[in-house]
Amino acid sequence: MKLRKADWWFVLFAVAVVVGVSLLPAPKDRNPVVPKNAEHQAVTAEKDCIVCHQAGAAKPLPDRHPRRQDCFRCHAR
Ligand code: HEC
Ligand code: HEC
Repeated sequence: MKLRKADWWFVLFAVAVVVGVSLLPAPKDRNPVVPKNAEHQAVTAEKDCIVCHQAGAAKPLPDRHPRRQDCFRCHAR
């Protein structure tokens, strides 16, 4: 089989797309990180985060914060 010029352009395009997508910023890079203080280092389980981060507690989550419990997926420590 012989590759035509158009085929090479297609291969180049496919590679460019793959590289481009892999360079997109990981979401974690842009979110606030978990502060590096004793309060936060004492907590290892995500379910304990809401002790302070819920309405009425020390630092409630903003209204528009995602309603999810997997904190570490978005907040690096
Ligand atoms: C003992 C209470 C307490 C617990 C437990 C706690 N936090 Fe916090 N957190 C705070 C307070 C108070 C602040 C705001 C003051 C500060 O920045 O230290 C804060 C701030 C933050 C911030 C914002 C930092 C910023 O730059 O705005 C993030 C993100 C965060 N916490 C994530 C977490 C996660 C994830 C957990 C669970 C591992 C957790 N916290 C557990 C009290 C707590
Ligand atoms: C889907 C991703 C995602 C998940 C999961 C997530 N967060 Fe966040 N969080 C964010 C983003 C994005 C911001 C920044 C919002 C902004 O600046 O308006 C944020 C901001 C915060 C802040 C700072 C609020 C402030 O007033 O500055 C705290 C505290 C926080 N998150 C705690 C938590 C805790 C605790 C959990 C787990 C129960 C959690 N987050 C799960 C994405 C997430």
